[in-house]
Amino acid sequence: MRVSFLQTYPIFGKIKDNVEKVFDRINSTDANLFVLPELFNTGYQFKSKKEVSELSEALPDGYTTKTLIEIGRKKKIFIVAGIAEKGRGRFYNSSILIGSKGFIGVYRKTHLFWHEKKLFTEGDIPFEVYNIEKAKIGMMICFDWLFPEAARILSLKGADIICHPSNLVLPHCPQAMITRCIENRVFAITANRIGVEKRIKGQKLKFIGQSEIVAPDGKVIYRASTGKEEIGVVDIDPKMAKNKNITPLNNIFKDRRKDLYKPLL
Ligand code: ACM
Repeated sequence: MRVSFLQTYPIFGKIKDNVEKVFDRINSTDANLFVLPELFNTGYQFKSKKEVSELSEALPDGYTTKTLIEIGRKKKIFIVAGIAEKGRGRFYNSSILIGSKGFIGVYRKTHLFWHEKKLFTEGDIPFEVYNIEKAKIGMMICFDWLFPEAARILSLKGADIICHPSNLVLPHCPQAMITRCIENRVFAITANRIGVEKRIKGQKLKFIGQSEIVAPDGKVIYRASTGKEEIGVVDIDPKMAKNKNITPLNNIFKDRRKDLYKPLL
């Protein structure tokens, strides 16, 4: 299975330009699965809820979603993409899954980061796993990396690959995702953005790039640069994620002592 991330530099508010650029790159790249950054179509630093309202879209009929559906159908591929979603008067920082037959599903970011809490509603749908023919995939978004429960639940539900649209500003995630993969024995594809946004005085955000694809044994198969737009493409065998044994006597899921963890959850 050939998987890919696009590390891009979205220009804030220029949805059409951002989407067209990604459309062209997907069109000229050979892969079965593409992962795009968080809020790849709008940019990240919204000044107000009004801006979120103006730039977010309803599913599945918004411009970005329809455009991704078009290329998904044409190339018979799967795409995971971070967008701002509008639904019933609420706004979500969401990740959509598009397939060769159209819209498949949405994940709404559960752990909102910093000012996102003033702009978006927290995710209200459970972590879900989807069968995309060659593998089972789950979605989480950016700051979810800091909550091991997100990757754990997706893995317990059978995900072989965790797709992780991101707009990382803290330095730790590229290393932390290695641990998320080792402790769950899954693949992860983190698609991050690059560049700077300083739309709000005193709040300059520098995005750290370093999008990556990590294997279930913790090997970093591909890590992108900190400051360049890039397309990472690698061939993986998703079946590698089915083996949860570390030794013949240690299975990372069966060895869990749920009886002792229970009171803490
Ligand atoms: C983040 O969650 N976008 C840092």
